[in-house]
Amino acid sequence: MNFEIGELFAHEMDARDSLKQFRDKFYIPKQPNGEDVLYFTGNSLGLQPKTVRAYIEQELKDWETFGVEGHFHAKNPWMPYHELLTEQMARVVGAKPIETVVMNALTVNLHLLMVSFYRPTKERYKIIIEAGAFPSDQYAVASQIKFHNFEIENSLIQLKPRKNETILRIEDIEKTIAENADSIALILLGGVNYYTGQAFDMKSITEAGQKAGAIVGFDLAHAAGNLRLKLHDWNVDFAAWCSYKYLNAGPGAVAGVFVHERHSENFDLPRFAGWWGHDKETRFLMGDKFTPTKGAEGWQLSNPTIFQMAALRASLEIFEAAGMENLTEKSRRLTGYLEFLLGEIKDERITVITPADENERGCQLSIRVRDADKNLFKQITTRGVIADWREPDVIRVAPVPLYNSFADVWKFAEILKNCLA
Ligand SMILES: Cc1ncc(COP(=O)(O)O)c(C=O)c1O
Repeated sequence: MNFEIGELFAHEMDARDSLKQFRDKFYIPKQPNGEDVLYFTGNSLGLQPKTVRAYIEQELKDWETFGVEGHFHAKNPWMPYHELLTEQMARVVGAKPIETVVMNALTVNLHLLMVSFYRPTKERYKIIIEAGAFPSDQYAVASQIKFHNFEIENSLIQLKPRKNETILRIEDIEKTIAENADSIALILLGGVNYYTGQAFDMKSITEAGQKAGAIVGFDLAHAAGNLRLKLHDWNVDFAAWCSYKYLNAGPGAVAGVFVHERHSENFDLPRFAGWWGHDKETRFLMGDKFTPTKGAEGWQLSNPTIFQMAALRASLEIFEAAGMENLTEKSRRLTGYLEFLLGEIKDERITVITPADENERGCQLSIRVRDADKNLFKQITTRGVIADWREPDVIRVAPVPLYNSFADVWKFAEILKNCLA
């Protein structure tokens, strides 16, 4: 795509944007002067859809009106409430409904899935993760290894970029898998690395991992609602993600889970059970023997968190209307434009470490700041930019196609250029 530097070009791009009406469906926080902030942290906490309030109020009203009877008589009965989210969530991640469920929070779900899918033996016990994976994933994986009485030092393989490189090469990932083919039990990578913004080739990694006899799972915190995912077709074993980032369901929002259809009736898999994972037909017979329901729903523990799910429903309706295909197409243009403008600043103090290949990234660009000068970040913040600083030396900027405009990106690049000057 050919980009141009002037402000006029940004306005032309916005005028031609077929998704431009979606910005108005979100509350954009304001600066003290009343102008919209330049919000680039949809990769951390997505903005509030204006419809969220009505979705939550419906449930408050039904609780007020029906009390416990709301489980059956609410406008959207609470008993099967999570099912209202399944199809839309499945479309966001390229899954079948039977493979998808909304429940808990992300790290909780990673643990529940590892209970079933990390089954180390004396021969096959290693886990492969990215060096510098999000801390919660590192803690979760290390604690699972310990839980099974294995040594972290010889059970955890961390994929590192080559010397003087910042992103992982697929050939190096495949090589590590091949070299440990006899001993890997699990590969658990982020779909997109939270720090570098690198999106992994999940299809190839899944193929290579499964060929080696391992289970392959992904943490999609930074990928769900950001990338065009095809979890079913890629044959991924399991995945988990949160919905407060690109999925705009609010702070601490309820998370998502994918378990491939292949495992949907594998009731021999050990799992931590709870009544909501029990066969729906007999759940209320209140028996003492657990009979899991088919598919991802069989991993549920507790009854649905209605208010959180109401917020997520509001957001998923917007995804449904916009379409992941259209969103990712705009995202490529928007992030490409940001990359172009950053390049035009021509300042050696900033370097984009996110891959230049648009197939290897989503919205986010990670800008490495020379000498870890956090002052630059502070300066852009006082000028109305909401981005984030990740230690030791990166500013993460994520233009989100649902609510960021080309004009936002242009203004951001101008502010950054002025602060550097
Ligand atoms: C990649 C990744 N994994 C795990 C987490 C932790 O999520 P939670 O607090 O919902 O368990 C986050 C949170 O931002 C994340 O980005």
